[in-house]
Amino acid sequence: MEITYYGHGSLGLVINGFHLLVDPFISGNPKASHIDINTLKADYILLTHAHYDHVMDVEALAKMNNATIIANHEIVTYYEQKGFKGHAMNPGGSREFEFGNLKVVTAVHSSSFPDGTYGGNPVGFVLKSDSKTVYISGDTALTMDMKLIPLFHQLDLAVFPIGGNFTMDVNEAIIAADFVACNRILGAHYDTAALIEIDHEAAKTKFREKGKELLLLEIGASLQV
Ligand code: NI
Ligand code: MN
Repeated sequence: MEITYYGHGSLGLVINGFHLLVDPFISGNPKASHIDINTLKADYILLTHAHYDHVMDVEALAKMNNATIIANHEIVTYYEQKGFKGHAMNPGGSREFEFGNLKVVTAVHSSSFPDGTYGGNPVGFVLKSDSKTVYISGDTALTMDMKLIPLFHQLDLAVFPIGGNFTMDVNEAIIAADFVACNRILGAHYDTAALIEIDHEAAKTKFREKGKELLLLEIGASLQV
């Protein structure tokens, strides 16, 4: 499994030859101005919630790629009414897709579209494929529900927001890593704006002191899981 960081909460995954994009907010992110969304492939677009900083490029990318949007019921209905393809899931649900198994889990946040339309409950995803398992928490607070995840999944990587203000910060993400029993964390949702700027070295050191690894990728860089 290959994961590319496109800035903020945006990720690209290549799994079993299928391309997935998560929460595409690239054209509106000044830090990601070197990424041309016209070059991005997507068989599926996974959305954790409906906030503008997670859905801005969905319509352009779905149209270009004829992608299927996987999200909660309200988000999928919103896009289906606009003519896009979708597959609705809600927390607790899991399904075998052609790219692998996807489970939808709880996130503690909010969710509404830029036009004010209700965006259902925010979610996270546990994605299992190639014998590797990745948890993408989406925007969330630290929550006890995370303790349920290792009852079902042995994670190889967890992607956590670490910028604070709207989500967990670095200190809480370290506790979240304990809750989900995963020591390899990819940071997201930081540095996009002044409000969520972090000190990279200090954050990595804090993780290291707890026996964990915090990965902070350049926007456009990839890692293998
Ligand atoms: Ni949000
Ligand atoms: Mn967000």
